[in-house]
Parts: sequence; structure tokens; C-alpha cells
Amino acid sequence: MASRVAFHPQTLFFSRREGCRDARSCRVSMASAIGSSAVTKVETQNKTFAPRDLHIQVTHSLPPQKIEIFKSLEDWAESNILVHLKPVEKCWQPQDFLPDPSSEGFYEEVSELRERCKEIPDDYLVCLVGDMITEEALPTYQTMLNTLDGVRDETGASPTSWAIWTRAWTAEENRHGDLLNKYLYLSGRVDMKQIEKTIQYLIGSGMDPGTENNPYLGFIYTSFQERATFISHGNTARHAKEHGDLKLAQICGIIASDEKRHETAYTKIVEKLFEIDPEGTVLGFADMMKKKISMPAHLMYDGRDSNLFEHFSAVAQRLGVYTAKDYADILEFLVNRWKIGDLTGLSGEGNKAQEFVCTLASRIRRLEERAQAKAKQASTIPFSWIYDRQVQL
Ligand SMILES: [Fe+2]
Ligand SMILES: [Fe+2]
Repeated sequence: MASRVAFHPQTLFFSRREGCRDARSCRVSMASAIGSSAVTKVETQNKTFAPRDLHIQVTHSLPPQKIEIFKSLEDWAESNILVHLKPVEKCWQPQDFLPDPSSEGFYEEVSELRERCKEIPDDYLVCLVGDMITEEALPTYQTMLNTLDGVRDETGASPTSWAIWTRAWTAEENRHGDLLNKYLYLSGRVDMKQIEKTIQYLIGSGMDPGTENNPYLGFIYTSFQERATFISHGNTARHAKEHGDLKLAQICGIIASDEKRHETAYTKIVEKLFEIDPEGTVLGFADMMKKKISMPAHLMYDGRDSNLFEHFSAVAQRLGVYTAKDYADILEFLVNRWKIGDLTGLSGEGNKAQEFVCTLASRIRRLEERAQAKAKQASTIPFSWIYDRQVQL
């Protein structure tokens, strides 16, 4: 049963599936409190491989003349964005943080790792597994970037700056899932087969961020998401330290530092768009926030729990790994980063969008306070990822 207690960002603007025990068969249309038609849900057939709970699919919403902007920014991207990639030889690799299987001391290192992991509580493991599964759905994120008009990798080995960025970004990200996956595997604390099934389901489902092949929307989305993952991995690092696993803290911390670098690059792209086209960019920002930023793994499923993502999010909220407050903080950070309050010369519509994004964080915080005040006793549910051990939501 979905939690009525946890207040997490995914549900900020949507009515919950009240009374719906099975999200895969429950096709309640979610009403948006803001009323944009773009967020109306479409019905999908309950097929094994069909994504569920999709938005109405809007495609190619950016006009051709604006797509040209990205072509004209090729050289700019080369000198301003590609510099945020790290050369492979300077990058850490998962093996740097894992027992070396070719060494004499391998078994001893593994048993030390397992000893450390014994102290880690189940609710923390649920958060770490959820984060790992999110990272492991990387094929979906590369696909998503390659849906964007004007910046997609047209050939698979395109020499444009945008395509070089996307491939190298993917290659950097690939280490995140690898490292967390191997560490959790060695820990012996989690049900790897259930986790692997969840990853397969998730990659098969894809994601539905509502970015409409529109690079304005796409880069606003990735700016938000990189910061969200920076915060979430930073918090799992902090918690690992508290639970006495300094190696795991180091792992989560090093991943968080990659996310920070990615955030810097994506926010720089959007900053440039604000410089070139403040009106179009502020409209895009407001549009994404009205649709709300869906988390990359929002379609996750393990073959058992139809509300798995909501349950994982509820645990992350309760533990402070990723919360509604973080969502509001990220929004506020971006509003300040892009100096939205200082934009001038906007149309009436642009002014409204500016006002909307500048005041949204405080509205979200007020909603959060109300939800906290209404919070009832949290329920406990089993998570298949940890052999159905019960975890409080
Ligand atoms: Fe990542
Ligand atoms: Fe990242």
C-alpha cells in the first residue's frame, strides 16, 4: 500500500493513487494542481513491456530556428562544456575501491568488506540499492539525451561537441552503477537477483521526463537531476560514515563529486541559453517545473511491488537521503544560479513564468510543512531487494 505519510517530490503536484493497490492495473488519471494539459496522463495497456503511467507524449516542440542556436554553439560547447569532462587516465575506476580479485589478499578484503556491511541498517540499504538501480538504467539516460533535437549524436560516433559530451558523460556515469553494484554484491546483504530484475524492468520501461525532444527542456532537466544525484549520493556518503563504513562513504562521496561536475556543465549550458534567449529559456524552466521534475527511475518495478518507486522514495525521504526539501532547495539553487529574478525585457507570459519559478520553492516548502503536520504513523513494508525484510516507510 502506498504510504500516506511520506511527502516526496514526485507527488508534489499530483493526487496520489488513493486506494489503488496495483499501479499497473490502476489507470487513474492524475490531476495536476497547476492545470497544464501537458501533464495529463495517458492510458497504457497493461502489457509486460509497455511503460506505464505516461504523460501525453509531446514531440519536437522547439522550432527549427531555435534548434539552429545549438549548431551555432558548437565551438562554445567545445571550449566551455567539454572542459568539464575528465580524461580517462585521470578518472577513478570502480576497481580502485574494490578488493582486487587477482591479489593474494582478495578473500581477506572481501571478508573485511562484509564485516563492515553487517552494521548497515536495512533502510539505508534500500536507499543505496535504489540509487544503484537508478545509476544502472544508464542506457535510458543516454537515449534520452539523444532524443534532443540539435544536440543528438546523429551517427553513434558523431564528432560534434554535443555528441562528444553525451558519449563521454555516459562513459563517466557508467562507473557509478558498476561500482555500487559490485560493492553491494560483495556485501552479501542484498538479493542480487531481485535487484537485477528491477534493473531489467526499469531499462525496459524507459523514462518519461516530458522533455519533448527540446534541448532547452532537456538541459534544464539534466541540470536539476545532476544536482539531485549530487545531493543524494552526498547524503548516502554521510550516512555510511555514521554507520562506520568509511570505504562506502568514500565510494558515495567520489560519485557525488562526479555529479557535481556534471551539474556544473549542464547549468552552464542553460546559463548560456538564458543569455541568448531569456524569454524562451524562462518559459522552458517554468514548463518543466509545472510538469514537475520526475525522477529518472520513476518507472521502477521489481515484478512484485507496483508502488516500488513510491516506497523507495518514502524511505529516502524518511532517512533524509533525498527529500521534498531537497527538491525545493534545488529549485531555489537553480533560480539563483541562473539569476532568474534579474531577467528583464520579458513579455507578459515571460514575466508570469519568471514569477512562477521564483515563488515556487516557498510554495513547495509550505505544502511540505502541511504534509508533515498531517503525517500519520508510517507503515512498514517488505522490500524484495533485501529478501523481503520489513522496512518502515
Ligand atoms: Fe551518476
Ligand atoms: Fe551525473
